[in-house]
Amino acid sequence: MYKKIAIVISLTLATLLNAGEIDNTTGLIKAEGLGEVKEHCTVCHTGRFIVVNGGNEKFWKTKIRVMQNAYGLWKIDKAEEEKMINYLTKNYAKKKQVSVNE
Ligand code: HEC
Repeated sequence: MYKKIAIVISLTLATLLNAGEIDNTTGLIKAEGLGEVKEHCTVCHTGRFIVVNGGNEKFWKTKIRVMQNAYGLWKIDKAEEEKMINYLTKNYAKKKQVSVNE
């Protein structure tokens, strides 16, 4: 019984501590969908372009289309694209007053 409670507490703590943690290679927030963003976005440029931007689902969808129409981003599987849009909308919803250079 106590063992179970201890496990639940430590798992909760681990989740809380993980929230908002920053990925070393991209500088982006570690969360569900970062894998797809790494595969399809930060191959061309730094994650900083994402950090300094921010917006809702429509905003990020438009950005992906801009990347595809102007900069050579390939076609992305629908499920993967949804994961990325979820990730971007959830973690980068608001534009921040920060510099492109860290
Ligand atoms: C094939 C290369 C490539 C890929 C892949 C790519 N981008 Fe870009 N991206 C660019 C280029 C080129 C620029 C323009 C850089 C500049 O202005 O100096 C850019 C600029 C940006 C900018 C800043 C300019 C703006 O319009 O706000 C954002 C935000 C951005 N990309 C987001 C993304 C996201 C999100 C993804 C993944 C879905 C992605 N990019 C994937 C090439 C790419």
